[in-house]
Amino acid sequence: MIDLFSQFNDTEREEIIALRKELEEANHQYYVLNAPTLSDYDFDQKLRRLQELEALHPDMFDPKSPTQHVGSDLTEAKSERQEAKGERRKAKGFAQVAHKYPMLSLANTYSQEEIEDWLRKLPANVEIVCELKYDGLSISLWYENGTLTKALTRGDGTKGDNVIDNIKTIAAIPQHIGTPDSGVRTPEFLELRGEVLLSWAAFERLNKEREAGEEPLFANPRNAASGTLKLQDPNEVARRGLDCYLYYMLGEDLPANTHYDRLQIAKQWGFPISDAVKVCHSLEEVMDYIHYWDIERKNLPVATDGIVLKVNDLSAQEELGYTAKSPRWAIAYKFPAEKQLTRLNAITYQVGRTGVVTPVANLEPVQLSGTTVQRATLHNEDFIRQLDIREGDMVWVEKGGEIIPKVVGREEKGERREAKGEVYTFPTNCPECGAKLVRVEGEAAWRCPNETSCPPQIKGKMEHFVSRKAMNIDGLGSETIDLLYSQDLLHNIADIYTLTQEDIARQERLGEKSAQNMLAGIEASKQVPWARVLFALGIRMVGETTAKKIARRFPSIDQLQWATMEQLTAIDDVGEQIAKNIIAYFNDLSNLEIINRLREAGVQMESQEEEQSPQSDLLQGKSIVVSGVFARHSREEYKAMIEAHGGKNVGSVSKKTSFILAGENMGPEKRKKAEALGVSILTEEEFLLMLNNE
Ligand code: IVH
Repeated sequence: MIDLFSQFNDTEREEIIALRKELEEANHQYYVLNAPTLSDYDFDQKLRRLQELEALHPDMFDPKSPTQHVGSDLTEAKSERQEAKGERRKAKGFAQVAHKYPMLSLANTYSQEEIEDWLRKLPANVEIVCELKYDGLSISLWYENGTLTKALTRGDGTKGDNVIDNIKTIAAIPQHIGTPDSGVRTPEFLELRGEVLLSWAAFERLNKEREAGEEPLFANPRNAASGTLKLQDPNEVARRGLDCYLYYMLGEDLPANTHYDRLQIAKQWGFPISDAVKVCHSLEEVMDYIHYWDIERKNLPVATDGIVLKVNDLSAQEELGYTAKSPRWAIAYKFPAEKQLTRLNAITYQVGRTGVVTPVANLEPVQLSGTTVQRATLHNEDFIRQLDIREGDMVWVEKGGEIIPKVVGREEKGERREAKGEVYTFPTNCPECGAKLVRVEGEAAWRCPNETSCPPQIKGKMEHFVSRKAMNIDGLGSETIDLLYSQDLLHNIADIYTLTQEDIARQERLGEKSAQNMLAGIEASKQVPWARVLFALGIRMVGETTAKKIARRFPSIDQLQWATMEQLTAIDDVGEQIAKNIIAYFNDLSNLEIINRLREAGVQMESQEEEQSPQSDLLQGKSIVVSGVFARHSREEYKAMIEAHGGKNVGSVSKKTSFILAGENMGPEKRKKAEALGVSILTEEEFLLMLNNE
């Protein structure tokens, strides 16, 4: 008999694992790389779904789940961050300092009904402070004996990066409060928390400069502020002009018994406290505040993404307490992303690096979240067909956290439907090179298969190859690639290494100096390690992280070239489709020729001795769960070891688990489940011994 119930359970379990992974990755993109991949709305919805599923499967509780901790902004390996944001000045990280009080997040909702529910559940007659939710990044300021001594980012909630030198460039933040003769007495230790941000005007100015310098643009003021705060050059930070609002005071023996009064005292001490803070006494007042600011916020010089409601009375706050992630005495109502209705003048197409043909809406210009929008993605053929979108229609456009606005709907048939356009049909041939388009089963996208001679694909591959996270070749941006391509000097990535000083310098726009810079960048790229070279090759679906994992398992291109489907899918993160793409890549003779030319040019096609970890096939075909805290190596190191020896890391215990590598404090539920299923549990000593016995 088929056990439908357990099948259903298994699907949910898989969904939990997939969501955790997706949300961790999104957190990393958002907090560390400042390049969000999900809109806030999509992130919040997925997090909610994960919460629901975790509630249905308490045995899968994991303190590391994104539902249980805040996303971390802690500065990582400097190179990754430098590349990601194109911040060249960084030379070192920041000192990490433990927070005196954990820095939590806020529960949030997009539903006014949920706000009403939250208010109803509070003790009777509590006052609520309503505030704007500023869209920047949180900061904790320490004042010791009246002097600003530390400024910590949220980090992972328990420790943060001390960015004091950068914070001191913000004119609104006092560096001293209360001199002995001013009559103001301030506590020995005082902490203020708030939001660091960049105004719309400063954000646009910065992006214009970056556009001119062919640097990647920031998607929104929040990412720009976050990238700026983590720079190592306070002069540059000062030039960009950060701003700040403070919204929370902490410490011992502080004055006042309410949150509102504390904010007013802070204001008197010279801190930047928003004038929009208001004490409300009823549901109606709170709702009026929300509705008022939903409109009025569009006139503010800075980005806001919601309203924060806080219980005013501090002892009532204390009684309500905290969950692992957020206070129970506060909640955020988030405004849905701003939408605008505008006319779709024409549909054109963009062919990407991998040949995906994306329909693009050319719009009647419209103001959206502070910028003018003229182009937006129409996603794919199915989207257009489902909504029956035609040229001439009025469409809804939205800007999420991403840089590219999207069409999200069409005005219903009726008086505003002006389309005279014909029913939409997707082109059958590539708008750039004329090749017949193909649509892979199960995928929404149409693709141009002409990888080797379709211009945007050739140029896109080169742009990807030189990008910062890949070969990081300075002085070779997309415009220069365009130019050299049009001059017949570049046809594929290997040609980059045959460019000469003369070729470059004779281009009108470039000259001797640019030629020198570019050649120096090309030369330096020969030191880029194998894992990044693999990412730079642009094999479909082989992203930065996957490339690292593959390179760890196959420390040279010669080994990778002969890898079997089985060996590839045994690598964490490599599914069947990625494995197929890798095999197809090496079956293409033109790719092999390019690889040979790159190798001859001196590009790294294998890991250097010291990068290589010992490796074997000892754990081939084994699915291993790593759980708990370890003494000899970190969890991440153990996971890397498992992969290096051909094993696969999995998140939860099932019948298929080969064994569990367990440290201290392994979850009791996991242990129970392992025992029930007869899965063996190894200590770290046993595991290390096993690897040494190979
Ligand atoms: S109170 C323990 N008030 O929103 C209470 N947060 O999504 C902590 N934020 O991490 C936060 N404006 O960075 C609070 N008026 C405000 C805020 C605010 C923006 C940010 C803050 C927090 C995030 C939660």
